[in-house]
Amino acid sequence: LDDGLARTPPMGWNDWNAFGCSVTERLVEQTADTMVASGMKDAGYTYVNIDDCWMTHSRDAAGHLVPDPAKFPDGIKGTADYVHRKGLKLGIYESAGTATCAGYPGSLGHERQDAADFAAWGVDYLKYDNCNNQGVPYQQRYDAMRDALKATGRPIVYSLCEWGEDSVWTWGAATGHLWRTTGDISASFGSMLSIYRSNVRLAGYAGPGGWNDPDMLEVGNGMSFTEDRTEFTLWAEMAAPLIAGTDLRTATPATLSLYTNRDVIAVDQDPLGRQGTEVSSSGGLHVLAKPLAGGDVAVVLFNENAAPATITTSASTAGLPAAPSYRLTNLWSHQVTSTGGTVSAQVPGHGTVMYRVSVGGGSSVGTTHPLAGASSA
Ligand code: DGJ
Repeated sequence: LDDGLARTPPMGWNDWNAFGCSVTERLVEQTADTMVASGMKDAGYTYVNIDDCWMTHSRDAAGHLVPDPAKFPDGIKGTADYVHRKGLKLGIYESAGTATCAGYPGSLGHERQDAADFAAWGVDYLKYDNCNNQGVPYQQRYDAMRDALKATGRPIVYSLCEWGEDSVWTWGAATGHLWRTTGDISASFGSMLSIYRSNVRLAGYAGPGGWNDPDMLEVGNGMSFTEDRTEFTLWAEMAAPLIAGTDLRTATPATLSLYTNRDVIAVDQDPLGRQGTEVSSSGGLHVLAKPLAGGDVAVVLFNENAAPATITTSASTAGLPAAPSYRLTNLWSHQVTSTGGTVSAQVPGHGTVMYRVSVGGGSSVGTTHPLAGASSA
C-alpha cells in the first residue's frame, strides 16, 4: 500500500514458529523486554506480533472478539500499552474466514468491528490469515479488511497471509504492505530452500510499501548455524520482512549475532527497496545481486549443495559499472578486499557468502570495515 507505512520491509518478532498456540501476555512482554536488552530494538526490530490463539472461542454479546483472560489478563490493550512503553509496536492476528486456523472466531463479515477494536486497543500491525474462507473470493475478503483498517484512521501495517494463492503478488501491493508467497515454513534447510526458490522469482513485484513475504525466520529453531546464517542472508537479499521466529529470551549469543548483523540488516532495509535477483544459477550454486541506494550492489554466493564449492561471478554480472577496481566488504566476516572484477569465494555446504560491492578499490586485504559494528558473527 502506498500510504507511508512499511517503506522498508517490516522487522519484528512473532510467536508462532517457536510457540504455536501457546501465546501469552507474559511471553509477549518478556520478549519485548528482551528485544530492548539484547540490542534487537536498536538494530531495527520494532513489531512484537501475536499470532493465532489469543482469543476466546466466542464473541461477546455485542459481537466483539474477546482476548483469552487466562492468557492475556490485561487484554490486548494492556499488552499493547506495555509494548508501547518499551518503544516497540504491537501486532495481532486474525483470519479472513469464519474461523482462524486454530478454530477461534474469524473476521469475515466482522471486518469493521474487529478493525475498530484493534485500533482502540492500540494495535499497529495485523497478520490476516486465510483459513475457513468459505470460498469467498480472495480479493474481496482481503480488500474488506484493508478498507476497515483504513477507516479506523490508525496506521496499521497489513500483512496478507494468503499463502501465495491466487497470484497474490499481482494484487498484493494494492491491498496490503506484505504478502506471503508460499505455505508455511519449518525449521529445516529443505523447507527454507523451497520457499527461497518460489520467492526469489517474484522480485519484480516488491518495492517500498509492498513486499514479498517468504514467511517468518526460523533462525535459532534447529537448523545448523551455517543454515541459519544462510536463511538470514537470503531473506535480507530478497528484501523480505525480518520477523524473528525464535524464543529470544533463551536465544544463544550466536543466534543473536545473526539477527543483529547491522550490515546485513542494512541490505534488507536499503531505501531503494529492490529485491535481489539470481544473476546466475547452475548446479545448486546461485549468485544473487541486489542494487542498493548510492550504487553499491549486495552480492550473495549461495551453495545449496551439501559439499563445499567455489562460486565465482563478476562485478559486471552483478550489475556494477565498468571500473578499474572494486571494494568487496564481506558482511559476515567484515573483511574488506579489493578486486579488478572477479567476485569469488569458497562457500560451505548449505552456506552463503555476502559482499557489499562498491566501485573503487584502495582497501587492503584484512582491513576492518570502518562501519563494522560490534555485531560481528
Ligand atoms: C497459517 C499461517 O500461515 C501461519 O503462519 C500461522 O499464522 C498459522 N496459520 C496460525 O494458525
